[in-house]
Amino acid sequence: MKLSERVRYVGVNDFRMKLFESHWPVPEGISYNSYLVIDEKIALLDTVDAAFADEFIRNVKNELGDRKIDYLVINHMEPDHSALVSFIRNEYPECTVVANSKAAQMLEGYQGLTDNVHVVKEGETLQLGETSLQFFMIPMVHWPETMATWCSEEHTLFPGDAFGSYKAVPPCISDCKSNLFDEYKEEMIRYYASIVGKYGQPVQAALKKLGNLDIHRICSVHGPVWEKEIPEVVKLYDNLSQYKAGCGVCLAYGSMYGNTEKAAKAIASELEKRNIPYGIHNLTAEDYSYALRDVFKYDTLIVGSPTYNMEIFPPVRQFMEGVADRGVKNRKFAAFGSFTWAAASVKLLNDMAADAGFELLSEGISFKQGYAPEKFDAASLAEAVISAGK
Ligand code: FEO
Repeated sequence: MKLSERVRYVGVNDFRMKLFESHWPVPEGISYNSYLVIDEKIALLDTVDAAFADEFIRNVKNELGDRKIDYLVINHMEPDHSALVSFIRNEYPECTVVANSKAAQMLEGYQGLTDNVHVVKEGETLQLGETSLQFFMIPMVHWPETMATWCSEEHTLFPGDAFGSYKAVPPCISDCKSNLFDEYKEEMIRYYASIVGKYGQPVQAALKKLGNLDIHRICSVHGPVWEKEIPEVVKLYDNLSQYKAGCGVCLAYGSMYGNTEKAAKAIASELEKRNIPYGIHNLTAEDYSYALRDVFKYDTLIVGSPTYNMEIFPPVRQFMEGVADRGVKNRKFAAFGSFTWAAASVKLLNDMAADAGFELLSEGISFKQGYAPEKFDAASLAEAVISAGK
């Protein structure tokens, strides 16, 4: 697919995979994006998942016909992008792999490939003819070897996973003909929260390093190509990587027999009465990446758990550990929960929140055995959110 005379899209959509990284649900699929830059010499930027070799090579040959690939640039060695490097080398034996030293080491470790590998350093340029590729290291966005490739003549940035998204791409992958940012925003945030969320500082460093480039096109390895909505996309990444969030509540809970769930719904109703934006997530019914997404979206976290073996209910603990693993900062927090004979979950949730540096809005509320409105002052939690926002 032609993005310009010289830049072509040759990636694939994956609707077969249920769990990305064998972990994160992708109900609307995911794309593995790969691109060609065509000049006197031809460069292929990244490959796709191993399951799509046939479709991938068909896409490449549709664009190139009998012409050969001269360079295969590896921006990121995670196998969803690098699995077909050896396959491409078998198809195009003369092709030189272009990688930084860390990626070259990983390429040997994963695929035993060491011959005809050209190792590039920060700022180095590769001339393709009139066009050139320049390489900038952006470690930990999302692995240590990750680099971005810049084609100044096309004003095009190939930044690996950065600015990526879950959700397969439409037939016209670019946002130049229709707005895609609003359509992809939720899945972009969920992708960021689950995959890149731990690496706020490296993302900030990458944004600063690449900030002076005159970018007209962003070709991420997942999700749409950004041309028209670059300011929105960059702003979103800037905010997410600084853990900046809008006013609102991520209301996440686990429930064994429905009592904590009734309490969660009572809180939701009180938030609604006060026009406080929120997302409610039953951690036993849906994957916790959806709640993580809202942790990155909203400035307040209200978490509910029954006491289970004198601990936090395991699905809720997994979620809280996921929040802690990502180093989320600057959030307000309140806990609630239920117990049958001894209360522990609210105190333990408060301890986890305090360890994360969150501001506690209240000491939390727990109730014994069955839920009843008179046992649970849901309004007080909603009022605490309002007071903290003043
Ligand atoms: Fe899409 Fe970090 O690989």
